[in-house]
Amino acid sequence: MRDFDEHTITQAVVDRLADTPDPRLKAVLTSLVRHLHDFVRDVDLTFAEWQAGIAFLTRTGQTCDAHRQEFILLSDTLGVSMLVDAINHRMPEGATETTVLGPFYVQEAPERPNGADIAGPLEGTPLLVTGSVAAADGTPLGGASVDVWHADEDGAYDVQQLDRLGGLAGRARFRTDAEGRFHFWTIMPTWYPIPDDGPVGDMLKATARHPNRPTHVHFMIAAPGHETLITHVFSADSPWLDSDAVFGVKDSLVAAFAEHPPGTAPDGRRMERAYRYLAYDFGLKPAADTRAA
Ligand code: BEZ
Ligand code: FE
Repeated sequence: MRDFDEHTITQAVVDRLADTPDPRLKAVLTSLVRHLHDFVRDVDLTFAEWQAGIAFLTRTGQTCDAHRQEFILLSDTLGVSMLVDAINHRMPEGATETTVLGPFYVQEAPERPNGADIAGPLEGTPLLVTGSVAAADGTPLGGASVDVWHADEDGAYDVQQLDRLGGLAGRARFRTDAEGRFHFWTIMPTWYPIPDDGPVGDMLKATARHPNRPTHVHFMIAAPGHETLITHVFSADSPWLDSDAVFGVKDSLVAAFAEHPPGTAPDGRRMERAYRYLAYDFGLKPAADTRAA
């Protein structure tokens, strides 16, 4: 076969995939080729635009290193991450909704006891977080692991300022008690821009978009027999809730980080200064193999 034109080339490429042994790879690649070709025809892509696209993707790869994943950021800002999330996390009643993991999760977070203050050297308005973890049917899950991490009052994560802080801060792993409860103190985070000094930032500027994410605390919650929950809780009084740069906000994940005057906090701690308080209860979806059994 030769002499392909703009109409016949697509089927020729699809035919060339006919012997792909892995059926899923064959299906995914075939669909990718069809959509990619349709896109090129749809916009009548010029040669200069094709070159610019290749240069953009090349720079995106070159911006990645051990600490920065510009391709995931590109996926996040084009809504692909949340689309994959939506397809893969259709949640039953009683299970908390999911959202993006983001680039600032650390696998080896320090294990801390319930009630610990995880702010370390971070300064800001004290924040008390209390919560519970249950199965979707409401059964409390004792012994669940609860990873939390959040930005500081300037919108920076610990891993973005390790030299200044001298270590991790504003992150920890807790275990729920027998009633599925956990609680800890930290400081109130604020909204922040995603890293926008690379190709993704250029794309946001070229499309007149801002890079900001609303104020949130990240949670990753794991318990045997359940799907690991990756989510955030957003502060109801934050700007950008309706224009999150990575499309991660869901109504069910927005909660009050209530302002409290000095006094006795809900965990019994005597507070000499004003503080904020977030209370949020999480539900976990049964693992796929548990539901099949
Ligand atoms: C975050 O919330 O940490 C985040 C998520 C997506 C992209 C950048 C940051
Ligand atoms: Fe974040």
